Amino acid sequence: MRIDKMLANLGYGSRKEVKQLLKSGAVKVDDVLIKDAKQHVDTAEQTITLNGEIIEYKEYIYLMMNKPPGVLSATEDNSCETVIDLLEMEDQVYEPFPVGRLDKDTEGLLLITNDGQLAHRLLSPKKHVPKMYFASIDGEVTEKDVEAFAQGVTLDDGYETKPGFLKILKAGIRSEIELTITEGKFHQVKRMFEAVGKKVVYLKRMTMGPLGLDETLELGEYRELTDEELTLLREYQVK
Ligand code: URA
Repeated sequence: MRIDKMLANLGYGSRKEVKQLLKSGAVKVDDVLIKDAKQHVDTAEQTITLNGEIIEYKEYIYLMMNKPPGVLSATEDNSCETVIDLLEMEDQVYEPFPVGRLDKDTEGLLLITNDGQLAHRLLSPKKHVPKMYFASIDGEVTEKDVEAFAQGVTLDDGYETKPGFLKILKAGIRSEIELTITEGKFHQVKRMFEAVGKKVVYLKRMTMGPLGLDETLELGEYRELTDEELTLLREYQVK
């Protein structure tokens, strides 16, 4: 990759500004001063420094966020804060985006990446990637609901859902459940409960495919995926 492109990608300025930076003698590749913006560098093999500090370049970034309520799963919005706004600038420079959407009031596991191919495969309806949600429900969830979800329910627009695996954690006038679904229709969990006459009052995504929410992350916090998680996710793709 050209050194000016790499530095610009990392947010060190426009291509023009980066050219000036190079001219000023701030950049070295394997200890050799580089002033030519067209110089190619091997980001995996060579050590690139800016004013003596090593610059790390990676093409892709993979972040796990515990999405807080009140924030949009989008890259930008005119009036509302987005999950991308919550990222440090050093992560925003990779231009990541959320993989799929959680409603504004939904919390929990959100994968954020700039790897379009991986995102596409995770979201593809053909892949049936299971997602598990924890929810509090206004109303008593019963075995009848478990059976109905196992058959698939009819949503308000007539769509017949694929089977969902419903587990009752606590039954009562306010029930607590776990629901695993393999689709991602708009407001799907909320609409599945509406289909059986109940209302979701709290919703949190716990898993997506092989990824589980790191519960040490506070709401709004995020971290890079571990190598192990990334391997699991990549291997999962090919199934
Ligand atoms: N289903 C919903 O209803 N909302 C979400 O945010 C995710 C799944």
